[in-house]
Amino acid sequence: MMIGQSVQNHRDEVSERGEPTAPPLMHVEDLRVRYRNGAIGVHGISFDVFPGSVVALFGPNGAGKTTTLRAVSGFVRSEGSRVVNGEVVLAGHNVTNSPPHKMARRGVSLVSERRKIFPNMTVHDNLRAMKTRVPKRRQIELTEQIDDMFPTLLSRRQLAAGRLSGGQQQMLALARGILSDPKLLLIDELTMGLHHSLHESLFDAVRRISNAGTAVVVVDESAGLALQMADYCYLMANGRVVQSGPRSLFEDQAMVAGGYVDGREAEQ
Ligand SMILES: Nc1ncnc2c1ncn2[C@@H]1O[C@H](COP(=O)(O)OP(=O)(O)OP(=O)(O)O)[C@@H](O)[C@H]1O
Ligand SMILES: [Mg+2]
Repeated sequence: MMIGQSVQNHRDEVSERGEPTAPPLMHVEDLRVRYRNGAIGVHGISFDVFPGSVVALFGPNGAGKTTTLRAVSGFVRSEGSRVVNGEVVLAGHNVTNSPPHKMARRGVSLVSERRKIFPNMTVHDNLRAMKTRVPKRRQIELTEQIDDMFPTLLSRRQLAAGRLSGGQQQMLALARGILSDPKLLLIDELTMGLHHSLHESLFDAVRRISNAGTAVVVVDESAGLALQMADYCYLMANGRVVQSGPRSLFEDQAMVAGGYVDGREAEQ
């Protein structure tokens, strides 16, 4: 399934599951990003994110995953780079090349691969610093949500964030993202550098974030993560989407790769 088909097929897929066919929360069309030095980060990426769904972008180093997330959240502009073709539409508004603070105000939040936390501040202060624009009642709800989701952080509120383990720092970065009350949370390299024993709790956190109504785009190098939790997946390479489809499509391919097809043939 190639790029042009992906948007329509995703819609069909959603309606086949009997869910209401809502317009996409974010629609990205033929996005091309040029870095300040002239390098092209992505060559024409198209994808949709439906409300409350989990979308995975995966693919090898240099595929353009980070570029895509930074483009749709406005951060490429802060590097003197920009979207030079295509558009990003959020809830029906053209937001192409909008700066990060405007995207944040519209409900798009990025958890970057650099895990932006303040290591010298306590966990409590890292969280408190995120809540300024959110109304008080909502802040309380969101705080309850993250306390429930990340009990480990709750018991370490007074610890300097830099003293948390890698997995706990990723949880803190996600918690900070949640506290900005996003409609769309973008997560770059959810599991990077973290022991596989921690992955399941992070997958679980993403599922819970989406169950609470926030759409999520999660990026990873491997398909493994995408297959754990995404509703819809995009495989990227060399700045392009090379394949897209519901998780089941990629699960079937993983079976082929894993030799299951041979097993089935042997049974016949
Ligand atoms: N700041 C930059 N300036 C110039 N080119 C860049 C910059 N950042 C990325 N690129 C280029 O854009 C392309 C896409 O890179 P990007 O970092 O988006 O890929 P990625 O899929 O996130 O890879 P990784 O798995 O290594 O994180 C690459 O060719 C890369 O060299
Ligand atoms: Mg990257």
